[in-house]
Amino acid sequence: MKNNDKQGFLNPLKIFIKSLLKKKTPDEIIETAKNSELKKTLNAFDLIMLGIGAVIGTGIFTIIGIAMAGEPNSPGAGPAVIISMIIAMFACLFSALCYSEFASMIPAAGSAYTYTYVTMGEFMAWIIGWILMLEYAISNITVACSWTGYFMELMKGFSHILPSWLVNPPIWLINDYRTAISVYKDMGLDPAVEIPKIFGFIPICINVPAILLILVITILLIQGIKESTKAATILVFVKLFVILLFIFAGAFYVSPENWVPFSPNGIKGVLSGAFLIFFAYVGVDAVSSAAEETKNPQRSLPIGIIGTLIVCTIVYTGTALVLSGMVPLDKINVLAPITAAMNSAGLYKIGGLIAVGALAGLTSVLLVYQLGTTRILFAMARDNFLPKSFQKIHKKHGTPHVVTWAAGIIVIIGALFMDLKISAELCDFGTFANFMIICIAVLILRKTDPDRKRPFKVPFVPLIPILGIILCGGLMVHGFMTLGISAVLFPVWIILGALIYFAYGYRKHRELEK
Ligand code: ALA
Repeated sequence: MKNNDKQGFLNPLKIFIKSLLKKKTPDEIIETAKNSELKKTLNAFDLIMLGIGAVIGTGIFTIIGIAMAGEPNSPGAGPAVIISMIIAMFACLFSALCYSEFASMIPAAGSAYTYTYVTMGEFMAWIIGWILMLEYAISNITVACSWTGYFMELMKGFSHILPSWLVNPPIWLINDYRTAISVYKDMGLDPAVEIPKIFGFIPICINVPAILLILVITILLIQGIKESTKAATILVFVKLFVILLFIFAGAFYVSPENWVPFSPNGIKGVLSGAFLIFFAYVGVDAVSSAAEETKNPQRSLPIGIIGTLIVCTIVYTGTALVLSGMVPLDKINVLAPITAAMNSAGLYKIGGLIAVGALAGLTSVLLVYQLGTTRILFAMARDNFLPKSFQKIHKKHGTPHVVTWAAGIIVIIGALFMDLKISAELCDFGTFANFMIICIAVLILRKTDPDRKRPFKVPFVPLIPILGIILCGGLMVHGFMTLGISAVLFPVWIILGALIYFAYGYRKHRELEK
């Protein structure tokens, strides 16, 4: 009797655990992707443009200053930020190789979510999808907020022709609540008096430029992926131009004494710098999320991913060398360090041009990340983990319009509450976790499906994936040991994701698959 009771309890538990580990086969996914209504128009060049569009942004335009100068809980790397960049680049490179193997083997929308589904099963796939939301949507909140900062700087340059309400709008109309409070305090004003309230107690702080920008980007994305990548290509050229201008013009103003001491906080500073500046590389994986819309994915995807990484590393190390040589460390932790460096050399016009380039750069990051967010949500909906309406494709434009609006609304809501540094750190935690899981997934599939055709193969397996796991894991542990709010919020995010899966995704999937 007792044994029967035990069996009666164990059987449903076994079935439940089995369903959490239920995998899809790569062939099933490839078949679904073949029949998809998404238009296949992208080539390797488009993918590199998308990649650079996603990668070069807030990291090099803003976060480099924080990574060099440091903050109370994260010592700065100083000029050794170039070493931090190389560490972050290797963490990214090993994972990018693993991404390339998957993307060329399973060219379907969904990126890491899809690759995890075929190797680790349903539950881990959901968790990775949830982490990808952190990587794409949360970082977009950061980028949208920093976009407003640059935009307002640019407006000030036209103060002689623009009306003053446009050049100097109220602080509460261009910031989230937390930032507005600190700005008012810095100005010596009382936020309680300055910030208007609904019903006398609900404060209103709305980052209007960021919200308008997200709306424009959402509409553009719905018009079609080719149109979106065309826009991204123009923006990418503008931002590459201004960064190269900075490197070549700034090189004449480098004072080698600024490079001494090279590493003021030793290895701790270099590692904290590597954790933060990793944000600058986030997005390399976004290339793989456009796999289903690529013409010759087996060849184009690896070129797109690795090509992006190479271009970005050259640009970043050049920028770090010149910036650290131009500006003393105590003047580098500002919102726009590159513009500030130019201004400090008296090159105000170039400084203004760089602000324009930064705006273009940030816009393209937003564009590609919104694209990535929608394609991952789309893939999750197609697997019946999300509402069916998320699978709808626009009849005329061939884009998933419902999910595109949903992603836009998520970022708009987030932009009302989030702050730049915490969301960047959170995004780094998510990306490290995601990269580690992809390295593990490559090792698993090599064992479980060794004969599958792999148009691109990671060299030196298992060494390269293991190095990826060690580097990403090591930086993540360093982050947990040194950071505050974000190190708590990351596990909270994962637990929340698991709860939503058990309360909604698990059931919905079974309901709709019947
Ligand atoms: N890599 C992107 C940026 O730096 C997220 O803005």
